[in-house]
Amino acid sequence: MSKTYVKCPSSLEELIASLHILFEEDNVNIEEVQEVMENYKSNVDDWGKFAIYDNHRYTRNLVDEGNGKFNLMLLCWGESQGSSIHSHSDAHCFMKMLDGTLTETLYHWPEKASKKRPMEQFAANDYHENQVAYICDEKGLHRVENKSHTETACSLHLYSPPFDTCKCFDQRTGKTFSTKVTFWSRFGKRTPFNVNGCQSACITAEGD
Ligand code: SIN
Repeated sequence: MSKTYVKCPSSLEELIASLHILFEEDNVNIEEVQEVMENYKSNVDDWGKFAIYDNHRYTRNLVDEGNGKFNLMLLCWGESQGSSIHSHSDAHCFMKMLDGTLTETLYHWPEKASKKRPMEQFAANDYHENQVAYICDEKGLHRVENKSHTETACSLHLYSPPFDTCKCFDQRTGKTFSTKVTFWSRFGKRTPFNVNGCQSACITAEGD
């Protein structure tokens, strides 16, 4: 790596600058990215302007496009909101808690599409403020939920390379379907309705 980066960023802006340097090269050092994201201590004054919630579903709010190497976004989770079980389109996925607690439930990939069987869960972990989780398709599939009925939660997600479609899975049968993922807001401004073509910009299946 040619440039040095700030290992303990004191602001979101400094974290983004470090991430730009870490993702300059083609191969990603997962531990380094995880460490620098963990070292940034969440401060609502940095990220509050990106946190736009919706009463019905969690929202995805774009913060930075990472020079085309990654997408960095704030996910805002209302009480009891969660995602469907999904894959990550061959991308790295880092999730840093900014506020509240989220539960990540991990599942094995279903064996065969033809066999309708409930999906097998292999772990469930709670993440609290400043902790960072990592997942990619080789590690499995996951669902992320804010299980609290009284508190909202907010997380910072980095996906590299960026993707706009992923697979969702029906927990009862393993049946899969492709979902387009978009943004509820971009750089602090609500995405116009006709840009996404739909109001719901998150990974949830009908009926979830
Ligand atoms: C995740 O995959 O970590 C959360 C879901 C999302 O990106 O919408």
